[in-house]
Amino acid sequence: MTSSLRPWIFAASILSFSAFAEPGENTYKQVCAACHGAGVLNAPKLGDKTKWTPLIAEGQVTLTAHAYVGVRGMPAKGGNPNMTIETFSDAVAYMASKAGGNWKTPNAKTLAAINKEIEARKAGLNQKP
Ligand code: HEC
Repeated sequence: MTSSLRPWIFAASILSFSAFAEPGENTYKQVCAACHGAGVLNAPKLGDKTKWTPLIAEGQVTLTAHAYVGVRGMPAKGGNPNMTIETFSDAVAYMASKAGGNWKTPNAKTLAAINKEIEARKAGLNQKP
């Protein structure tokens, strides 16, 4: 390759990384894919509509909050104690979107509702049977 081409290829690779990675995709790959990629411990797999459709039906607020607190084999915060709810929400939205949901980065109002549901869940309310 001629040296004059290198800066362009470098710029193109940065662009393709930042412009085309959806919110949550990197977190998914770094944290969630370990289980949700292959279905470890029966985790709902990325893109498995049969598994995700009833979860998506719970709604973004409920599903995000409950997963963040932890559900059965799903560890709280995806097993990463430093995971913020903002980062986690994006990863949930990414997975939901890959199974037919149209979930976006939660706005401030949705985030507030998620945080409220997290508190309720931690307090032992709204437990799943
Ligand atoms: C150690 C393995 C593991 C990792 C890592 C993991 N999950 Fe899970 N997750 C599971 C399992 C297992 C379930 C299924 C729980 C059940 O229903 O028994 C699950 C279920 C879920 C659910 C559905 C929760 C519900 O209410 O049924 C969501 C949403 C979810 N995970 C999101 C995530 C996100 C986002 C990440 C990454 C930030 C992540 N998970 C990382 C194992 C994992």
